[in-house]
Amino acid sequence: MSPESTVTTATIEVTDALHDAEWWRHAVIYQVYVRSFADADGDGTGDLAGVRSRLPYLRDLGVDALWFTPWYRSPLADGGYDVADYRTIDPAFGTLAEAEALIREALDLGIRTVVDVVPNHVSDQHPWFQAALAAGPGSAERSRFWFHPGRGRGGHQMPTGWVSSFAGPTWTRTTNPDGTPGEWYLHLFTPQQPDLNWDHPDVRAEHEDVLRFWFDRGVAGIRIDSAALLVKDPTLPEVPEAPGPGGHPHLDRDELHGIYRSWRRVAEEYDPPRVLVGEVWLADHRRFADYLRPDEMHTAFNFDFMARPWDAAALRESIETTLEAHRGVGAPATWVLSNHDVTRPVTRYGRADSSFDFATKGFGTPTDLELGRRRARAAALLTAALPGSLYLYQGDELGLPEVEDLPRDLLQDPMHFRSGGVDPGRDGCRVPLPWSGTRPPFGFSPTPDAEPWLPQPDRWATLTVEHQSADPGSMLRLYRSVLALRRDPELRGPLRWLDLGPCVLAFARGEHLLCVVNLGADPVDLPPHGEVLLVSAPLDPDGRLPHDAAVWLAPPPATPTSAPPDASTEAPSL
Ligand code: GLC
Repeated sequence: MSPESTVTTATIEVTDALHDAEWWRHAVIYQVYVRSFADADGDGTGDLAGVRSRLPYLRDLGVDALWFTPWYRSPLADGGYDVADYRTIDPAFGTLAEAEALIREALDLGIRTVVDVVPNHVSDQHPWFQAALAAGPGSAERSRFWFHPGRGRGGHQMPTGWVSSFAGPTWTRTTNPDGTPGEWYLHLFTPQQPDLNWDHPDVRAEHEDVLRFWFDRGVAGIRIDSAALLVKDPTLPEVPEAPGPGGHPHLDRDELHGIYRSWRRVAEEYDPPRVLVGEVWLADHRRFADYLRPDEMHTAFNFDFMARPWDAAALRESIETTLEAHRGVGAPATWVLSNHDVTRPVTRYGRADSSFDFATKGFGTPTDLELGRRRARAAALLTAALPGSLYLYQGDELGLPEVEDLPRDLLQDPMHFRSGGVDPGRDGCRVPLPWSGTRPPFGFSPTPDAEPWLPQPDRWATLTVEHQSADPGSMLRLYRSVLALRRDPELRGPLRWLDLGPCVLAFARGEHLLCVVNLGADPVDLPPHGEVLLVSAPLDPDGRLPHDAAVWLAPPPATPTSAPPDASTEAPSL
């Protein structure tokens, strides 16, 4: 075959994949935290030119789409989740023309783009908020936000005692032009992120326009930040002790569904229709699934699964409830091991308590990174085998651990500061990626003397893309193998559980795949099978699956007279 015809075949495959309007039902979506992905101009901050230069890496990894955390102009009071202008790229990252080029170039490689929309709040530097401050109490400008007089004598008390998602109060008092204390404004996150008033028509119209702005530029979908928080009870009651369904004053209110229905209509105006992915943190599976009804969002992040400990019963329960809740609305589940807000899996799974909870994060938690890495490898095979779409946070494919010894004076995350320094914050999972070489900046920046915005540990020399690409046993090679195998549509059959004991998760996907995960301490016998497709750790000499390991198997050959399976078959990709 001539080189030209190879290229033609690849192009046809890419085009076919891009015509699949249902791609989001089974896609692998890679989360790019731009600031920490790759720095092309050498200022220590990742940028769009850096992402463009690394697109071949993402193609070779085998991802279907990229989700970019906010790349818009922002003072970065909360890592870009404080947007000052949705239609401009932050100058630290590049230009709108570069974003357009990036979207096009990614598509040429068969990779779609998802952008982040942050509708609950804007930056305090956003022109609307600046206008609201200037216009004063009772103004039309203020009605786009939640300005309110204080309670008590002199209005010194906050309008409500609501607690911020970042700890501390949710109201900040303004100062009148004459220097006297003024109204308070609501911010469920930091004071630099004033909440918008979603009862206001301008707020609704502006966001639909922002969606069109990016859809017109060829993005395939949006990730909706803090999607269950937008609507507030305008009577501003306190949070009841045990709010009933829809009874919380600023979480999961019924009126939200009307917003997402109208966004879905905007998404459906496009060909192919654009996709809505919600960041919905809700314990109630049924209320969660309501957001995924056929005329609302397409998918939402499965934080229930993400937060579960490395425990067979806990994970199985989450998988079952997830699948059942999604079945009811015809939406695909998503599988998420981490993102830019939570502890890296390699670290979390190496702890005595391997669940995730913002409330219990602290410095100095004992961690067995070797065990964590072993489990994270197994978790990669588990999540890739489950029905639905898969989210992969940059650096997890390299098995990066959380960096827990960043110099305190370099920490930037408001979660750290607002906790009074108790919560280490989220900087530890946002350290720039190591690409190559043996010392920082590990190819993240183009010159050896560049200083990444958060320092990379010297010990990351063996975790670089370059190093791992050459090591058949690396996390990167495991991810490449599993994502390549996962592309086969034959592996998307229905899930059927197999019983291999209480510490094992085992299931078949249709007629073509068995996945077995051993979360117990002892090795387990494999079920009857054909070829060993992929293992996260070598099988023991008796062909058993060791502790904290996973395997993908082909089912046994159909003919009952065929030879017994050879359990010791070597997996090709280790
Ligand atoms: C979401 C983002 C997080 C951000 C918060 C406020 O949870 O993932 O990074 O801090 O919203 O926008």
